[in-house]
Amino acid sequence: MDKISIKGQRQLSGEVKISGAKNACLTLMPLSILLQETLELTNVPNLSDIITMQTLLRSLGSYIKYNPEKNSLKLTTKNITNSTADYDIVRKMRASILVLGPLLARMGKASVSLPGGCAIGARPVDLHLFGLEKLGAKLKLKDGYIIGNVRGRLKGAKIKFPFVSVGATENIIMAASLAKGTTIIKNAAREPEVVDLCNCIISMGGKIDGVGSSTIIIDGVDHLKHTTHNVMGDRIEMGTFMLAPAIAGGKIKIKGCNTDYLNSFIEKLVETGVDIKKNKNEIIVEKNIDVLNPINVITAPYPGFPTDLQAQLMTLTCFSKGISKFEEKIFENRFMHVPELIRMGANIEVQGGIAKVTGVSKLKGAPVMATDLRASVSLILAGLASSGETVISRVYHLDRGYENIEKKLSNCGANIRRFK
Ligand code: UD1
Repeated sequence: MDKISIKGQRQLSGEVKISGAKNACLTLMPLSILLQETLELTNVPNLSDIITMQTLLRSLGSYIKYNPEKNSLKLTTKNITNSTADYDIVRKMRASILVLGPLLARMGKASVSLPGGCAIGARPVDLHLFGLEKLGAKLKLKDGYIIGNVRGRLKGAKIKFPFVSVGATENIIMAASLAKGTTIIKNAAREPEVVDLCNCIISMGGKIDGVGSSTIIIDGVDHLKHTTHNVMGDRIEMGTFMLAPAIAGGKIKIKGCNTDYLNSFIEKLVETGVDIKKNKNEIIVEKNIDVLNPINVITAPYPGFPTDLQAQLMTLTCFSKGISKFEEKIFENRFMHVPELIRMGANIEVQGGIAKVTGVSKLKGAPVMATDLRASVSLILAGLASSGETVISRVYHLDRGYENIEKKLSNCGANIRRFK
């Protein structure tokens, strides 16, 4: 199994190009189930989660041509030959649940393995099921599978989610796009990835109003047509790279994602005292102070502070002067990076959903273990600023969401290498 070694305390300088957004791509790919024609995606990141979604779609009958050099993906689903999303694939990736809405809309039936628990909390799918039932699907759970049937066609409905779910919003938007009549989603997720999905559906001939707001109105159409869609840049990758010079020292220019998507994160980074110059699609981050201010962070749905950047920002606060607090409101168990950071010398206490970080003057390299995607990258960031060598094992977590991370960091002067 691959490991990553980092010899820290090297100033960074250079430029990083952000890849296409993993999370946007993972919903755009199942969207292709809704049409017989080809959906072409460009700016597709070369990541293991993208490969897993291809495996799943191929198992349903999709023909997929992936060109990792050109970052493009052509997905054609002329016929669905199988409407079962098997446990062996679904267990690898929770986003597999996003085939459920499209399968029900196109085929009128689906059988999708329950994703089950996962490392960062219980993560149920009840809101997905609630929304699809409102659209007229009959759903039952049997032997660990969600079995769904639709008599005729899905029908537009009013759906008010009790709280915000990105995945449930996406599943319903896709299903409602081919339903008969109008669907109104209240308390919809406003994440940029949801906007990217809506824009792609609109360019396929779908009818959606209220894009980017918490009320989304979808007028179902009879069919969707071919389009080519450029996947948005990965805002979480951009935020992660912004933290690299803030933690290790130096100055980096990062480009390839709309920086407005990161406003709540940037606000916190500025509060720590890090210098930021922001343009539309690029940002320059420089650490030109010795003492970082402590901060308080509460994760929330977009446009609030993203849970997917909580672990990485916590690593920065390990080096600040004073006490920072992180309240995790989205995933109850998302502090698995904490014990590993403590092994490197951090002073962090977790009580309930709150982590209290008391800044220390330095961290020391140690062997650490990646436990989930964002936790693993927070350890890479910690390693960049630590004395000695940090060796991170189980880096397959990292390969799910960060394309060429060692190359991108070593191009900026980091001493980082992957080995078996
Ligand atoms: C997506 C992102 C993930 C990000 C998360 C929150 C993808 C592939 N993943 O995950 O990176 O961290 O949004 O921004 O896009 N919940 C329920 N019932 C449901 C659905 C969700 O209780 O049916 C809960 C979850 O357990 C969680 C909260 O709602 O506590 C938000 O989850 P959700 O927004 O659905 O996250 P995902 O779409 O899984």
